Amino acid sequence: MTVLTPSAGPAERLKGIVPEAEIAAIGPLIEEIKALKEDRNAVVLAHNYMTPDIFHGVADLRGDSLALARMATETEADVIVMAGVHFMAETAKIANEGKTVLIPDLRAGCSLAESITAADIRLLRERYPDTPVVTYVNTSAEVKAESDICCTSGNAVQVVESLGVDRVLFLPDQYLGRWVATQTDVEIILWNGSCEVHERFTGDELRAYRSANPGIRIIAHPECPPDVLEEADFVGSTSGMIGWVKDARPRQVVMVTECSMSDNVAAEVPETDFVRPCNLCPHMKRITLEGIRDALRDLKHEVTVEPEVAARARVAVERMLAVPV
Ligand code: 13P
Ligand code: SF4
Repeated sequence: MTVLTPSAGPAERLKGIVPEAEIAAIGPLIEEIKALKEDRNAVVLAHNYMTPDIFHGVADLRGDSLALARMATETEADVIVMAGVHFMAETAKIANEGKTVLIPDLRAGCSLAESITAADIRLLRERYPDTPVVTYVNTSAEVKAESDICCTSGNAVQVVESLGVDRVLFLPDQYLGRWVATQTDVEIILWNGSCEVHERFTGDELRAYRSANPGIRIIAHPECPPDVLEEADFVGSTSGMIGWVKDARPRQVVMVTECSMSDNVAAEVPETDFVRPCNLCPHMKRITLEGIRDALRDLKHEVTVEPEVAARARVAVERMLAVPV
């Protein structure tokens, strides 16, 4: 997690990250967002996949899903603008009933969240009555409400092992689940959801990078298929990947995940050459500076969760946040 100086102007925040001409063009919008944040006592929480103008230009707090969920419980602001996708905004609302949570574009969804419903979980519980349900946070509030505990890619193994059982239902990301199964003795029962961005990477593609660039380091998100993860030198959440690059400072790296992340990290690790296959998340890319400005100006689009659903989902989210990582 990185906390930026709120007083820094656009030129200072974006120097060397985006071209000077672009800074001149977006500077007034960034200043407008800064003023609106003060008026509204608001913070912008930004996922690591945001484009550099958002990530470096207007975010107050930045991180992976786990960090964003934690930050949402810790902020003193009255208004949270989630520069991320809908499930992240919903998780912030679940953790923080009293706050106004806004998302700049309601269409910012997630293929994993679409892959499973609360009714699916109720059916699975009938089939596996004594098996706890571990649910990835990339799900709706209704799905979280049916779950025993949530997890993210940053704590999935620890969450599964925290339950002290021999087997769990792990929903909905089959690839994250398969990766967790390689890290624990707990039996993992999978669902067939997947991320439309990470499932596009292939092991062949990575072997081609390795043979063309001897010595390149490959680091991957656990939403990738197993043949991709087998090629990786490190597997971790988006913040885990960023931390790995900042610590290892490799000569050349490929970050096998959504491609805005390389742009954001490259700005902070100039000595590393980032090879950038570009798979964009169309949902994350719905979030723009204009959308953030409009959200703050018009207090839209407010994310709400039905109180009874939120109360049950909160149990699963808080249980996750209590697991040490
Ligand atoms: P992280 O929690 O690792 O940031 O992942 C969220 C996500 O949606 C990855 O596609
Ligand atoms: Fe969902 Fe994949 Fe986009 Fe992440 S990258 S928000 S898992 S669709």
